[in-house]
Amino acid sequence: MKSIELFAGAGGLAIATANAGFDHEAVLEWNENACATIRRNKAAGMPHVRDWEVVEGDVSDYNFKRHAGSVEFVSGGPPCQPFSIGGKHRGVDDARNMFPHAVRAVREIQPKAFLFENVKGLLRKSFANYYTHIIHQLEYPEIVRRGDEEWTNHHARLEKAVTSGKAKGLRYNVSLLAAS
Ligand SMILES: C[S@@+](CC[C@H](N)C(=O)[O-])C[C@H]1O[C@@H](n2cnc3c(N)ncnc32)[C@H](O)[C@@H]1O
Repeated sequence: MKSIELFAGAGGLAIATANAGFDHEAVLEWNENACATIRRNKAAGMPHVRDWEVVEGDVSDYNFKRHAGSVEFVSGGPPCQPFSIGGKHRGVDDARNMFPHAVRAVREIQPKAFLFENVKGLLRKSFANYYTHIIHQLEYPEIVRRGDEEWTNHHARLEKAVTSGKAKGLRYNVSLLAAS
C-alpha cells in the first residue's frame, strides 16, 4: 500500500511502517535536523528511506489532496507537547496541537486506514473530552468544524452524529492501542 507519514521526526515510525510493508509516497517534517537525518540515510541508500520524498515544511500548510486516490494509509505522531505529562498541559489551546491537521489529512486523502501515535498523557482525565473529540473527528472526518465554532460545540454536533447513527459521509472505525 502507498502511504504518507506526517510529523516524521527522524523517521522512527516511518521506518517501522515501511518495514511492515507500507510504501511512503512522502514523509513530512519541519525540523531541519530531522529532515537532514532522513536525507542522509536516503543518500546512504538505506532500505525504504532511499525511496522517500522528504517534504520539509509545516504540515498545516500542506495540501493532502495531491495524495488522494494513490495513498491508502496515513500514519504519524502529531506533536505530543500539548498533552505531555511534562510541560504546560495546554492541550487544545496549545498552538502546537496538530490533531486538526491529522484529521484534515484523513479527510483530504480518504485512506483505507490510518495510525496515529501519541503520549499516554493524552489519556489523562483532564483531556478526556478532547480525546473523545479527536476520536469522533477521526470517525467522521467530514463533519468539519465551522469557521467560528468553538471546539466544544463541534464536539456536541459530533456526539449527536455518533449517537444518532445517521451521519452521512466518510466513516472510520477507530480503536485505541495502548502500550502498557
Ligand atoms: C512526536 S514527534 C514524531 C516522532 C516520530 N513519529 C518518530 O517516530 O520519531 C513530532 C514531530 O512533529 C514535528 N512537527 C511539529 N509540528 C510540525 C508541523 N507543524 N509541521 C511539520 N512537522 C511538525 C516535530 O518537529 C517532531 O519531529
